[in-house]
Amino acid sequence: MNNCKAIEIAKNIYWVGAVDWSMRNFHGYETSRGTTYNAYLILDEKITLIDTAKINFKDELIERISSVIDPAKIDIIVSSHVEPDHSGALKEIAALAPNAEIITTNPNGLKGLTARYGNLNYKPVKAGDSIKIGERTLQFVPTPMLHWPDSMVTYCPEEKILFSNDAFGEHFATAMRFDDENDFNTVLFEAKKYYANILMPFGKQAQTALKALGDLEIRLIATGHGVIWRSYIDKIIKAYKYWSSDELEECAVVVFDSMWHSTEIMAQTITEAFAKRGIPAAYYDIKANPMSDIVTDIFKSKYLAVGSPTINNQMMPTIAKILCYLKGLRPLNHKGFAFGSYGWGGQSIAMVEDELKAAGIEIILDKIRIANLPTKEQLDDITEKILKLEL
Ligand code: FEO
Repeated sequence: MNNCKAIEIAKNIYWVGAVDWSMRNFHGYETSRGTTYNAYLILDEKITLIDTAKINFKDELIERISSVIDPAKIDIIVSSHVEPDHSGALKEIAALAPNAEIITTNPNGLKGLTARYGNLNYKPVKAGDSIKIGERTLQFVPTPMLHWPDSMVTYCPEEKILFSNDAFGEHFATAMRFDDENDFNTVLFEAKKYYANILMPFGKQAQTALKALGDLEIRLIATGHGVIWRSYIDKIIKAYKYWSSDELEECAVVVFDSMWHSTEIMAQTITEAFAKRGIPAAYYDIKANPMSDIVTDIFKSKYLAVGSPTINNQMMPTIAKILCYLKGLRPLNHKGFAFGSYGWGGQSIAMVEDELKAAGIEIILDKIRIANLPTKEQLDDITEKILKLEL
């Protein structure tokens, strides 16, 4: 018993989710501020629950629901998304509310939920379907690949609330439910980090969803993670339009690992050379920075330089990890190059270059390799090359 209570976010609509204060790794995404699993309870003729929570938080979810109604009274459960951070407690809630219909997309939601939770009382819906739950209507808008095939948002026209699930959310644990109750810049950074680390490969799908939602009048965006948007709806929608576009900024990111400072010295020189050209460059020693923060910065920076020394004929595992992660995120229109020092073999730098190419990054400078410790002349040469680059 945690004495968790529901929080009313609009008349007879309650946040009944859970706060995961300590979560620091969301399948590889480093969530330095934790997260929330947002679920919403609508009291109408048909009592409706929008989403559940990660299974570890089922007790918190059930307590919050029970602080308003007996969970057995739930008539409808909307499953916006099969991923278990939202559907994890579905079976438990369905057991408490045996008459509840579970709304999901057809066929992907239906397939995913059946595979995970067996045959429950599913009611598949498609684009354009809606249901009347009493005074209110729920309209279902599938948003495939934003970011799973089954993803869906739900709009309530009478309340002008968009239940947006993963879209517009952040991994941000907070006791304050609304955007304007939290530090705006922190929330916006976490929303950008969420977009970069989860939605980056799905820009086109995000634009399609934004178009589909474009005509809706929205007074609340009730997300699946983090804050509920009410005061800064225009700002988060504008940010999504920009983040989902191909537009990049004239900025650079220099990311490296180093064994005995040689690659580190090269990274410093590269960072300063970009700055000399008037291109702000962020400098990331990968040992000192979370990979997910670095990727957030790479996301809209046009230029990327990645450095690794050679260890046992390979690149450093830290660098292999971020390049693997980046390849999956499929960044668009970036330009970059590889650099690094070595003692004898020096294979790592070509490997980094190959991985950059595989991630879709256009190579604009041949790999920079320096044996042992860089000399002043070699560092000057790096600066000169960057100053002369045709960008
Ligand atoms: Fe928050 Fe894709 O689950």
